[in-house]
Amino acid sequence: MSTLYSFNSAASLALHAAEHWIEIGQQAIKKRGLLHIALSGGSTPKQVHQIITDATHVNQLDWSKVHFYFGDERCVPPQHADSNYRMANETLFSKIPCPPENIHRMQGEIDPASAAQDYAKMLQAHLPRNNTGEAFIDIVLLGMGPDGHTASLFPDTAALKVMHKSVTENYVAKLHAWRITLTYPMFNAAHNILILAHGEEKNLVLKRILASPTAHDYPIQDIQPNGKLFWYLDDKASKNIDAPIQHIQE
Ligand code: 6PG
Repeated sequence: MSTLYSFNSAASLALHAAEHWIEIGQQAIKKRGLLHIALSGGSTPKQVHQIITDATHVNQLDWSKVHFYFGDERCVPPQHADSNYRMANETLFSKIPCPPENIHRMQGEIDPASAAQDYAKMLQAHLPRNNTGEAFIDIVLLGMGPDGHTASLFPDTAALKVMHKSVTENYVAKLHAWRITLTYPMFNAAHNILILAHGEEKNLVLKRILASPTAHDYPIQDIQPNGKLFWYLDDKASKNIDAPIQHIQE
């Protein structure tokens, strides 16, 4: 089941996504004592981090009960400009009282296959189980590229076919770079996935995806969680799209 929202600005999109994160987080902490959330790389999440750490929102979650994971990571050291961990540390972790042991970084600085194996073991040790014994994440934040990639699940890459592991290394030829990424089975076990996509450059791929919801033309189309899927769009990304989108004008 997916719900689509479109906002008249990226700032409004980020505000509503941040407040949704808080709402789900409060429920998870009330129910099981912890919140497990996987962060996304890219630029869109930065505004969400900025809002959730502002004076209005920063005290609405007990950060000591939040465990942070990553949906993907670039194979670079944590202090590298391209590191998703570095972005999250600068815009989020450095602004909240979250215990360091609750932040689970993908080791972009080591051999990709070893980093993926280590991460999978960590996930098995930390994540809660659903009633079929499957490990799940409460909230997964994702972005979407103009080519329909999400996390580091890029078109025509090996990771799209990895169904027997929760984490895998992935060589992305067009970037001439290795990545580490959660796989479809891990993403699709999530209880809530929030896909954040704004800007004109996302409009064409979004139009194609929503016109053929059962197709498998783009990696993001196979993000079909057992839980709930929410699309957080802005009006530039959702322009002229004929789909059941809730337009929120503020
Ligand atoms: C990454 C992200 C990637 C990102 C998309 C959208 O590591 O870069 O996981 O999948 O979410 O490329 O990026 P923007 O939010 O910057 O458009």
